[in-house]
Amino acid sequence: MSYPLEVHNLYYSYPDGKGDILKGINLKAEEGEILAIVGLSGSGKSTLCYCLSGIIPHIFGGEMRGEVLIYGESTGKLKVPEIATRLGIVFQDPDTQLFSPTVEDEIAFGPENLCIDREEIGKRIDAALMQVRMEEFRFGSPNHFSGGQKQLIALASVLSLKPDILIFDEVMSQIDTEGRRAIKEIIKELKSAGKTVIMVEHDWGNLDIADRVLLLKDGKFEAFSGTL
Ligand SMILES: Nc1ncnc2c1ncn2[C@@H]1O[C@H](COP(=O)(O)OP(=O)(O)OP(=O)(O)O)[C@@H](O)[C@H]1O
Ligand SMILES: [Mg+2]
Repeated sequence: MSYPLEVHNLYYSYPDGKGDILKGINLKAEEGEILAIVGLSGSGKSTLCYCLSGIIPHIFGGEMRGEVLIYGESTGKLKVPEIATRLGIVFQDPDTQLFSPTVEDEIAFGPENLCIDREEIGKRIDAALMQVRMEEFRFGSPNHFSGGQKQLIALASVLSLKPDILIFDEVMSQIDTEGRRAIKEIIKELKSAGKTVIMVEHDWGNLDIADRVLLLKDGKFEAFSGTL
C-alpha cells in the first residue's frame, strides 16, 4: 500500500551554491492525518513544502536528491497538473496566490486550465465556497477582503482541483483570531473527509488540531520534545 505522501532521503540545495538546505528528510504521511511541522525561521520548512508540492524540482532550479512520492509516484516524474489534482498548497501570504478580479474567477482558474467543462466548474465553485463558508462572497473582489477571508479564497481555489493532500505553510500567521479559528475548523473537516493535511506552524496554539508534530532543525527532523 502506498502512502499519500512519502519522502525518502531528501536533500536539496538552491542554485546559489550555499549548500544543502534539506539534509536527509524522511517522512510518511497517512490518509486522514494532520501532520504538523514546526521549526525556527530558516530551518527549511517552506523549502520542504516546495519539495512536497513539486514546485521543487519543477519550477525552482537547484539540486534535489532523494525522492518525494505522491501515492507512490515520484513528483519528478509527475507533470505539474497531475500533481495539482492530487496535492494543493496554500502559502503564508494570500496576496501571492490571488490574482483574479472576482472570487468566482479565482476559484475557476485551476479547473479552467485543466479544461474541465463549464457545468462541472460551476459545481466545483459552489462546493469549494461551501467548504470554506464563503458562499455569499462569490461575486466579490478578493482585493477588498480581510487577510483571513483572502486565505479562505486561496484555499477554495486549491480545493476546486479536489486534491487528496493539502499543505498549509504558516497560513494562519497573518490573520486574526477569528480567521484562525475558521481555518482550523476547516482543516479538521478536511481530515474528517479523509484528506491528508501537512501544516507548517510556528504558533503552538494552532498545534492542538495536529495528530503528530515533527520538529525541523537545520534541514533535518529531530525528536520533538515540545520546545524549539
Ligand atoms: N529562493 C531561495 N534561494 C536561496 N536560498 C533560499 C531561497 N529560499 C530560501 N532560502 C534559504 O533556505 C533556508 C531555509 O529557508 P526556508 O524559507 O525554507 O525556511 P523556513 O523554515 O520556511 O523559514 P520561515 O519560518 O522564516 O518561513 C534559509 O537559509 C533561506 O535563506
Ligand atoms: Mg517559511
